Amino acid sequence: MTTMHTTTLPTTDDVRARVRDALRAVGSTAELAGPGEYGLPASTPITGEVLFTMAATTPEQADAAIAEAAQAFTTWRTTPAPVRGALVARLGELLVEHKADLATLVTIEAGKITSEALGEVQEMIDICQFAVGLSRQLYGKTIASERPGHRLMETWHPLGVVGVITAFNFPVAVWSWNTAIALVCGDTVVWKPSELTPLTALACQALIERAADDVGAPRGVSRVIQGDREVGELLVDDPRVALVSATGSVRMGQQVGPRVMARFGKVLLELGGNNAAIVTPSADLDLAVRAIVFSAAGTAGQRCTTLRRLIVHSSVADELVSRIVAAYRSLPIGDPSAEGTLVGPLIHETAYREMVGALEQARADGGEVFGGERHDLGDESAFYVAPAVVRMPAQTELVHTETFAPILYVMTYDDLDEAIALNNTVPQGLSSAIFTTDIREAERFMAADGSDCGIANVNIGTSGAEIGGAFGGEKHTGGGRESGSDAWKAYMRRATNTINYSSDLPLAQGVHFG
Ligand code: SIN
Repeated sequence: MTTMHTTTLPTTDDVRARVRDALRAVGSTAELAGPGEYGLPASTPITGEVLFTMAATTPEQADAAIAEAAQAFTTWRTTPAPVRGALVARLGELLVEHKADLATLVTIEAGKITSEALGEVQEMIDICQFAVGLSRQLYGKTIASERPGHRLMETWHPLGVVGVITAFNFPVAVWSWNTAIALVCGDTVVWKPSELTPLTALACQALIERAADDVGAPRGVSRVIQGDREVGELLVDDPRVALVSATGSVRMGQQVGPRVMARFGKVLLELGGNNAAIVTPSADLDLAVRAIVFSAAGTAGQRCTTLRRLIVHSSVADELVSRIVAAYRSLPIGDPSAEGTLVGPLIHETAYREMVGALEQARADGGEVFGGERHDLGDESAFYVAPAVVRMPAQTELVHTETFAPILYVMTYDDLDEAIALNNTVPQGLSSAIFTTDIREAERFMAADGSDCGIANVNIGTSGAEIGGAFGGEKHTGGGRESGSDAWKAYMRRATNTINYSSDLPLAQGVHFG
């Protein structure tokens, strides 16, 4: 399969200049050195080259950052929630002002096409607006008491320092999902971004510090520590960190979860997905093809919510696959910052090697592969690939594994129960979708014996969630919920208060004592 090349790549020096401009615009004074000077490289998948290096946070500096956040918490927790909201409102204003600057950095470090990078920053603005509203709605319940002259109620209090660990593929939005909510809840934040995206983290830190200065909040409300896994482990093991909210692989979650729980810290995990869409005979195929191509090939297949498995009724499978393959052929692949590009690079060579390995295994399992070839855009260190569609004879072990690349496995079904069982058979449980115009099928998919995922959509793809809903999934996805709805409750502690306004002391359950 051949796919259109759209652009030549910019030079690495050109990309460096864009980074400097964007960081200057957001007000970052961070020092950037040349390749080889410091231990933490900042690279771009656009050319595959190292742009700058930075000093990684030392354990002493990380300790100081956590101490600063813990100190800030002592005053932030009693700052009225609507006043805390003013900080998040200011951050939102700065994000509006610097939307393009931040999106430039997202494109450069994560390889997202401009429209998706702008969308990611828009998501930050949206969550800030949501959190500001929430700052006046941290409601508790009033509960009827069984005792005369008594009242029960719930109050919600700030938790403490929240450690936020994020992945490369949403280098800014996931920080803001956590930080905007945590801040209005009265918590303070220490962020460990992916080591693949340190520049966007510098920009976010510059913006939150400006926002804090503008509203008179202590800078300690939000700190950043940079480096590899060991730096993240400092958050995981530190008893001053009340909640660790970690986004990443299932393997990472399997390590982080038990370590945090062993010290009785709280954990919020948003781990891998292996998302499926069911296409029924009644589906609007025009709509389904558009949604499937965005969900499977968008972001070069590097979203947690990327569509990885298509479960198609056998009566429409041939037509659907040939339409998807045709759409894939017309996808412009290339420089993600160039106008018109729809598929940017894979994040690094390892991601490419994993994609190649998965496609080899798919062939060995009897799969028929369309696409998947590498595009040589003149820079050997950059990895541009055509998204792949693979018709599989069955759900093999390979299909149960999340490969973080644009591979869409297609399987067929004849009966909806079988399709739902296939949807649910993988260990992960993040996102899912059904394409149907039959209300019975749609409702069945969303019912208790339907999809077992945290997200179950009808007639839209598996990716591209809005911030208003709670985001996250079940099983190996980790069970956490971030962003909208009542996800804020994970960032607070609940107290149950029983108030006796009588002059008697009746005991619950009719107990008599003395
Ligand atoms: C992700 O976290 O990978 C995806 C979020 C989304 O697609 O909405």
